Amino acid sequence: MNKIVVLTEKPFASDAVNKISDIAKAEKFDIKFVENYKTKEEAYEGVKDAEALIVRSDIVDKDLISHAPNLKIVVRAGAGYDNIDLNACTERKIVVMNTPGQNSNAVAELVFGLLLYMVRNYFDGSTGTELKGKKIGIHAYGNVGKHVARIAKGFDMDVYAYDPFVNSDEIKKDNITPLSSVEELYQTCQIISIHIPATNETIKSINAKLFEKLPKNAIIVNTARKEVINEEDLIAYMEKREDIKYVTDIQMDHHSEMIERFPKRYFATAKKLGAQTKEANNNAGIAAVKQIIAFFNHGDTTFQVNK
Ligand code: 3PG
Repeated sequence: MNKIVVLTEKPFASDAVNKISDIAKAEKFDIKFVENYKTKEEAYEGVKDAEALIVRSDIVDKDLISHAPNLKIVVRAGAGYDNIDLNACTERKIVVMNTPGQNSNAVAELVFGLLLYMVRNYFDGSTGTELKGKKIGIHAYGNVGKHVARIAKGFDMDVYAYDPFVNSDEIKKDNITPLSSVEELYQTCQIISIHIPATNETIKSINAKLFEKLPKNAIIVNTARKEVINEEDLIAYMEKREDIKYVTDIQMDHHSEMIERFPKRYFATAKKLGAQTKEANNNAGIAAVKQIIAFFNHGDTTFQVNK
């Protein structure tokens, strides 16, 4: 039967592993888990008999797929697929899918964990500030952005969003104020929550031009991708403006320098953990295995991203 390989350097929680495995076996698919691998070679060895792959942020490039001659489908159990070389997969006629929306709530909840940590001064006992009444700007109103908006309303925040791909009526319908440019978002909101993918257009797009617009005591929270930030510009700007803070779920390339230069103004989680909840692992992992089964059994390509 078709062989599914779950290739996860950052493994799913055990509950999700058991469920993914049970679903595959019930449909008579062979399944193998290659977890916590440390080298490319281990990954190459792990995928050699794969017809289907489930990955998270694992790199799926030309080299990896060259070690998987029977590969027909890759499902990224998650939203962003910048870790997958779509052209290389398309060339080999390998279908690539993601599982949109399945881990969004987990990421959105983390946004507020990070924000509270910052506005309460790393929980050090000193006087902080509240989120209530503050303006939060949601940079991209997709699955995560929508959850952030919902939770922000619970904090009684004033919620704004900018997304050139979403109709402003759709944003208004959720009682969120749509803004017509990214500059306006950064100018209006003291708190900015980033939810854009890393693409050729967005990489390093959050730069000095936007930082310069930020109001006093601004905090940028990034649970999306580190690549969208122009790190040099951010460092230069934080040097100039002592009131700006940056908090992220993805350590910057300049992580050690940031910690040294900006104590209590820069915080990054030890390892990207936005989607690392039992629920998100179950949702994304189960969706991924079901999509693979539907693809082999019925030719279903609903979530294909390399059409
Ligand atoms: C995503 O794109 O779905 C998130 O960034 C989660 O990534 P992860 O599965 O590597 O935690």
